[in-house]
Formats: sequence, structure tokens, C-alpha cells
Amino acid sequence: MTSTADITADIKGQPQTEIRDPDRCDASIGPGAGGPGAVRHLGLIMDGNGRWARARGLPRSAGHRQGVEALRRSVAAAAGLGLRYLTVYGFSTENWRRPAEEVQHLMALLRRFLGSEVASLVNQGVRLRTLGDHARLPRDIVRLLSEAEDATAAQGRLDLIVALSYGGRQEILAAAQRLAAAALEDELAPEQIDERRFRAALQLPDVPDPDLIVRTSGEQRLSNFLLWQAAHSDLVFVDCLWPDFGERQMVAALDDHRRRHAAQGREGGGLERSLRKSVG
Ligand code: FPP
Repeated sequence: MTSTADITADIKGQPQTEIRDPDRCDASIGPGAGGPGAVRHLGLIMDGNGRWARARGLPRSAGHRQGVEALRRSVAAAAGLGLRYLTVYGFSTENWRRPAEEVQHLMALLRRFLGSEVASLVNQGVRLRTLGDHARLPRDIVRLLSEAEDATAAQGRLDLIVALSYGGRQEILAAAQRLAAAALEDELAPEQIDERRFRAALQLPDVPDPDLIVRTSGEQRLSNFLLWQAAHSDLVFVDCLWPDFGERQMVAALDDHRRRHAAQGREGGGLERSLRKSVG
């Protein structure tokens, strides 16, 4: 069995697409989200729907459908575990290059999700928010998103942030353009552009950076996800394919993160720990 500790690594940039272990989603339940090193904001790169389907001789669309079920489970788990923010990578700027039929299927799933899920989100105290370049999304989906955001705006238990038509570089470029325009209008001088002002020009400046980003399916890359915000995030890569992901795997990843932070505290003590913190 592969533990999340074994499969945790720095970004190596090399894809590992092989399905290695039938038990790759096994994960023992640990203490969960609380305690030192607790995660407030979890990012999820949901990967492996296609491989999940292929392993069963099913079309990719079946994998995406199961992917929606995994998303439902994950939202419920995140709310139950006391996380405050959950950002999921629903559709990247690069995903527009997929075959038109697959893009249409993903949009249809999103439509259905938005049409059917709002009441359940409200029941769970979940506020839906979005990130990304919505100018490229079908108009009815933009409307459904805006209605879902309005309908859940008063909820304060968990913010579910769905990144759609999203790319970290594009978000950074848009922020740079906003700041450049403000400088041209003499609203600020270029030397006044610091991290605080740059963050304020990003899409959701009130949302704290993710403490932890989990990517499923064994791939070890960020793939343009939250590039600015991930500067200091812990990264956990799990072999589990996204449709098999659920509370157990989430708890194991949170537990792994918490253990690493506890170990840093124990091993490093004062000076080493503050040095680690100072480098990142
Ligand atoms: C990656 O699997 C997943 C996606 C491109 C879509 C992400 C998420 C879902 C379908 C869940 C529901 C989300 C919404 C927004 C309704 P892949 O197709 O890249 O899998 P592969 O790498 O195995 O081919």
C-alpha cells in the first residue's frame, strides 16, 4: 500500500501516469483537520477521470461523471472537517484545447451541478465562489454561476471556490494589466506596486493562500493552478484517481500535512524552524 507520506514530494515536473497500485486509494483515517498545522484552505487538483474510465473500459465521460460525485463527497468532507476554504480546479485555460465533444460534456456536467446542487450547498452552509476568465464560458453557465453565487452568498461555513476557465498565469497577467492601467492613470506609482497591492489586484484577494494543495492521479505538477497563491503551500500528490477520492483520502492528506508541521516543530525547535519558515 502506498501511504500519502510516500507519495508526497516536491514538484519534479515529470509526469507519472502509470497506474501503479490497485490499493492506491487506501488511506487510514487519522486525527483530521484540527490541531497545529491545521489547514484552513485546501486546494484540490482533480486529476485522473480519464484514466479511471479507461481502466474500466468506459468512455471518458463516465470518468467525469464519477468526478462530479467525488467533488460532492469532497465538499461534504471539507465542510465536516472544519475547513474554511476549498478551491477546486474544475476547468483550466488549457482544457479548452480538449476535443469539442469532451468540452461540451464537461460544460453539461457543470450546468447540471449548478442546477441541482444549490439547495444542498445552502444546507451544508457552503458559499459558492468562482475564479477564472468567464468571458469564454457559455452565457447560460455564467448566469447559473452568478445565481448560485447570489443564492449561497450568506453561507459562512465553507467557501467552495470553483476555478473555471482558470489559469494562474492569466490571473497574474490580468492583475499586472490592472495595476499598469492604474499607474497610467496616475492612481499609483510603479514603485508602489508591492505584494499587498498585487494581491489586491488578483481575483479573490480576501481568500488566504492555500495551506495545502492536493493533486490526485500521481501527476506531480501544479498545471497553472493558483501560481501566485501557492508560493508557500505544502503539496501532496496522491496516486488515487480523482473519481476514487473522498473523505478518507482527504483526511490522510490533512494528517500528512499536520504531521510534517509537527515534525518540523519537534526536529527544528527554535532556530531551525524559524529558518525553515523564513525560506518558505
Ligand atoms: C481531469 O481528469 C479532470 C478534469 C479536466 C475535469 C475536472 C473535474 C470534474 C469532472 C469534476 C467536476 C467538475 C465540475 C466543474 C462539474 P482528466 O480528464 O485530465 O483525466 P486523465 O488525466 O486521466 O485523462
